[in-house]
Amino acid sequence: MPEFIPLISEQEIHEQIQKTGQRISIDYKTKDLVLVGILKGSFIFLADLSRRITIDHEIDLIGASSYHGTTSTGNLVFTKKPDLNLENRDVLLVEDIVDTGQTLIKIIESIISLNPRSIKICALIDKHERRNVKIDVDYSCFSLEKGFIVGYGLDYNEKYRNLPAIYDLKL
Ligand code: IMP
Ligand code: MG
Repeated sequence: MPEFIPLISEQEIHEQIQKTGQRISIDYKTKDLVLVGILKGSFIFLADLSRRITIDHEIDLIGASSYHGTTSTGNLVFTKKPDLNLENRDVLLVEDIVDTGQTLIKIIESIISLNPRSIKICALIDKHERRNVKIDVDYSCFSLEKGFIVGYGLDYNEKYRNLPAIYDLKL
């Protein structure tokens, strides 16, 4: 049976999202903000973050997947493209967790081809150990060295996204 070791509580998650939402509201006050959530892992974070942003903004979703189990397969498959026209807009990509950074690099390339005015990254978790590309996470709620975590949108083989807090998964 997998073991779930509590790592980040529901309350800590909500406090950090509140702070991040405030920062984004200030930084994008005079901009044309579009939050672009990366499916599926960001869906809960996106919903909570959006409600903590106090300036007008629009929301879109993009689908990309490279994981099976706890390891990346390396092949990124786009399962959904943005619906909104992102040209000259200020895009903030919303991701659950940045691990190697491979997924984001490819997504950034594809968004750049749509000619946004700016593109930045907001991640719930910035996980460092396996980063192998140069990526600046502009807004991150939590920083983690290593491990495989589940809950609050993050899955293991599509399960445990519904857990309200974040757990370290020991298989
Ligand atoms: P990257 O391309 O290696 O940065 O992988 C990013 C994606 O892998 C994330 O969007 C997650 O979907 C998944 N991922 C990476 N680490 C974890 C984890 O600890 N738990 C659950 N999913 C993870
Ligand atoms: Mg993801």
